[in-house]
Amino acid sequence: MPDLSTNCAGIKSPNPFWLASAPPTNSGPQIERAFDAGWGGAVWKTLGSPIQNVSSRFGGLNVRGVQAAGFNNIELITDRPLESNFREIYECKRKYPKHALIISLMVETRAEWKDLIKRSIDAGADGLELNFGCPHGMCERGMGSAVGQEPRVNQEITSWAVEYSTVPVLVKLTPNVADIVPHGRAAQRGGAHGVSLINTIKSIIGVDIDNFVPEPRVSGASTNGGYCGAAVKPIALHMVAALARDAEFNIPISGIGGVSNWRDAVEFILLGSTSVQVCTEVMLRGFRVVEDMIDGLEEYMRTHQFATIDSMVGKAVKNYSEWGSLDLNYETVAKIDPDKCIGCHMCVTACQDGAHQCIHPPAATVTTQLLRPGQPPLSIFSKIQTPPGAGGHLRVPVVDESECVGCNLCKIVCPVPDCISMVEVPNGFSPSTWNEHVTEGKALRPKKGSH
Ligand SMILES: Cc1cc2nc3c(=O)[nH]c(=O)nc-3n(C[C@H](O)[C@H](O)[C@H](O)COP(=O)(O)O)c2cc1C
Ligand code: SF4
Ligand code: SF4
Repeated sequence: MPDLSTNCAGIKSPNPFWLASAPPTNSGPQIERAFDAGWGGAVWKTLGSPIQNVSSRFGGLNVRGVQAAGFNNIELITDRPLESNFREIYECKRKYPKHALIISLMVETRAEWKDLIKRSIDAGADGLELNFGCPHGMCERGMGSAVGQEPRVNQEITSWAVEYSTVPVLVKLTPNVADIVPHGRAAQRGGAHGVSLINTIKSIIGVDIDNFVPEPRVSGASTNGGYCGAAVKPIALHMVAALARDAEFNIPISGIGGVSNWRDAVEFILLGSTSVQVCTEVMLRGFRVVEDMIDGLEEYMRTHQFATIDSMVGKAVKNYSEWGSLDLNYETVAKIDPDKCIGCHMCVTACQDGAHQCIHPPAATVTTQLLRPGQPPLSIFSKIQTPPGAGGHLRVPVVDESECVGCNLCKIVCPVPDCISMVEVPNGFSPSTWNEHVTEGKALRPKKGSH
């Protein structure tokens, strides 16, 4: 039985799944229900000086029928009294001693940091998370991403927190920077025990085109907000991996951003995260999503014979390299499984219009027009012959392998799982990277699809 327990920067939890600081961690009763549902840890909704929130404050990005594939908010930190928060933290920790309870903080002055850190630890915090990431509202007041974007300020405030804290300190980084590495290093120089990333990405989620106002609308106006949810996972994975492979950076990472299922969590762990935080998926579907996450992770660990989370952390990092180190002589082509193909021809359209014009319809097509009184003519397509390569299947498109560059587009659009595979073709050339080609003159295979 794999052991799912984890120790992220000295913060222990029964599994790597933590709720990120956000509405699901706004109160003690919510976090207690989350722990009952299976969450291993929770980062409390950011505490700080009292604020007032706007109404409305969330926006969703719908993509071809998928609701909230991306999500955006213009919410600030907690709007509840600090006394209520600290009372509930105390109660929650008392009832759930084995779960990780991390308190997120964001204030301005050194005295305020000292005060809130002491009160958080007195209430029972297992760790602190410094919110240097909020990209709206708070940054205009000199906090959140305004701190996270300035390595010097990040380092200094981190060093105050580390000085005042007796529990591990995580620094939550903003993705609203050109390169995450200097910011992770700054937190490390400040003495942080770990970093968490990403917070939300500065964004406008959409525009109300009838009223000419960006979303989410507050009376007749809006502002930029923070983007998160499934759509941001690739950006978050890249930033986590960039830090994990940096030779100077060597503190633990709590990965956040677009985690919707166990597979996403595994990806974050393989790219260097010791724990994984989730916000949007829980906002959309509730605390119980963690049940599948735990089952899926456990099964994955069993299948791949990982006994502990630690043995998985960073396993994919060494295979992430610069473009110049990729083998230019490696070659694949698309192969269609005729038994799975449903003949939709989405791959044909994609390859013809968006790639290299090397998937072709399987047969000559005869169009018959059926005339119907009072209605537009109905076109009936019929195929009359099967070209070589279609294996006798009238519906299956044909890949011209001599022109296929192995770009993947047809596989991406194909609606049938595993119907198109990218298959390696031996071409007689030994591996050669761009760097080797430039420095050592190593031979490159002839190009396809660029005549
Ligand atoms: C409505 C909302 C409120 C948030 N509030 C906070 C906050 O108070 N403190 C914080 O550090 N992050 C906050 N976040 C950011 C999340 O903790 C998380 O970093 C981000 O949403 C990415 O994770 P996700 O893709 O799983 O949502 C908030 C996110 C949302 C959607
Ligand atoms: S891999 Fe690219 S080039 Fe090859 S058939 Fe598919 S879409 Fe066309
Ligand atoms: S997209 Fe997939 S299912 Fe559709 S025709 Fe192409 S191979 Fe067949």
